Amino acid sequence: MTISWKSWPTLLHICLFLCTTGVESQKFQLQPLNRAVLQGSDVQFSSTVEGNWQVMTWHVRGFLVLTVPADNNVTSSSTQFSARFCSAGDPRCVEFTIHNVTRKDAGPVMCTVQGEYGSKTAQLSVQESGTVNILGGNMTVDQDQQVEFQCVTIAWFPIPTISWTQNSHAVNSSLYNTSSVKDGDYFNSTSVLKFQAVRNTMVECQATVPALTNPQSSSVSLVVVPKPPDWTVLIAVVVSFGGLALLVLLIIGIIFCCKRRKEKQSNYQDEMRRVRTQSQISTVSAAGLRRAQVNAGFVPEGQTSIAPSELTDSDFCQANGPNVFEMPDILNTSQTGNSFNRAQHTVDGSGFRKHRHVTIV
Ligand SMILES: *[C@@H]1O[C@H](CO)[C@@H](O)[C@H](O)[C@H]1NC(C)=O
Ligand SMILES: *[C@@H]1O[C@H](CO)[C@@H](O)[C@H](O)[C@H]1NC(C)=O
Ligand SMILES: *[C@@H]1O[C@H](CO)[C@@H](O)[C@H](O)[C@H]1NC(C)=O
Ligand SMILES: *[C@@H]1O[C@H](CO)[C@@H](O)[C@H](O)[C@H]1NC(C)=O
Repeated sequence: MTISWKSWPTLLHICLFLCTTGVESQKFQLQPLNRAVLQGSDVQFSSTVEGNWQVMTWHVRGFLVLTVPADNNVTSSSTQFSARFCSAGDPRCVEFTIHNVTRKDAGPVMCTVQGEYGSKTAQLSVQESGTVNILGGNMTVDQDQQVEFQCVTIAWFPIPTISWTQNSHAVNSSLYNTSSVKDGDYFNSTSVLKFQAVRNTMVECQATVPALTNPQSSSVSLVVVPKPPDWTVLIAVVVSFGGLALLVLLIIGIIFCCKRRKEKQSNYQDEMRRVRTQSQISTVSAAGLRRAQVNAGFVPEGQTSIAPSELTDSDFCQANGPNVFEMPDILNTSQTGNSFNRAQHTVDGSGFRKHRHVTIV
């Protein structure tokens, strides 16, 4: 049998077709390839196999734990491991389950399909969430005081991610520091948050690991006592204003007093001048009075244009009619020159009123 040169490309095509279809038919998928679960939970892996397969095996941490024949007579090494077709009667998808996962189950999970399919490996990590607690509980501080919160997480695996919130808002990570210590198969962590107290705040510490859907948390309330108003400034202002007001009052008072004294002095001098002139007038009229006993105090009712000083004097005389008649006697006894002297004398002395009696006449 001879193969012509012309038939080579066809043979090549046939070979390529066989090779590719052969590889394609033996492909299978394992999902997921990485899985983190909490200890105590169940974890599933699924294997999708194309083509006709006979036997599938599952290894956990290197040990064969389960065998699945395509006719669905599953044999398991323990009740902790089980497998089933994803949809009943369809061998193209197999779901493998590890129940009640423990930390010792963590590691590679390998699925092998007998024949030319080969095997696929996934990684299983088993995590644990411990406790979260903010030490010291609720806190009451003065405004602007530096506060420090300590959040302690115990018995976590692996090291948890710790974050803080204030009134449900994430705190900038520059405000806290976290350190962890290994305690056997677990980790204890301490996170220290420092900030300045401004207002009442709900402070929450959250710890989480990838397997945890919702972080564990602990919260406390921070009560901030507002600063009392700065009275010193107010007192200083009041004192300075009060002092200023007092000073102004004092100055006004002094000025007023000086004015009063000046006025008194000028009144006094005015009075003196008036007294002098009236005394002179009286001496002039005294001569006439001696001759005729005229009632000098009498003012005609029709008279309107009279000086205020004269009016008061006249009024005085009218009111004290009898005194007017007595005046001449005093005048009669004193000489003209004496009268003037006497006027001056009485003004200087205390008997000013007496003098008025004299001058009015
Ligand atoms: C802390 O404060 C919160 C809210 O103010 C309150 O519900 C809780 O009882 C307080 N806890 C303690 C230990 O006083
Ligand atoms: C956190 O604080 C640092 C320094 O105070 C600042 O540079 C940074 O922008 C802040 N980050 C956020 C998200 O606010
Ligand atoms: C965190 O630690 C660093 C270095 O020890 C220190 O400089 C910084 O002040 C700390 N921050 C807090 C919030 O404790
Ligand atoms: C971790 O915390 C627990 C509980 O407080 C404690 O007993 C243990 O000693 C701590 N481990 C380390 C390494 O500090």
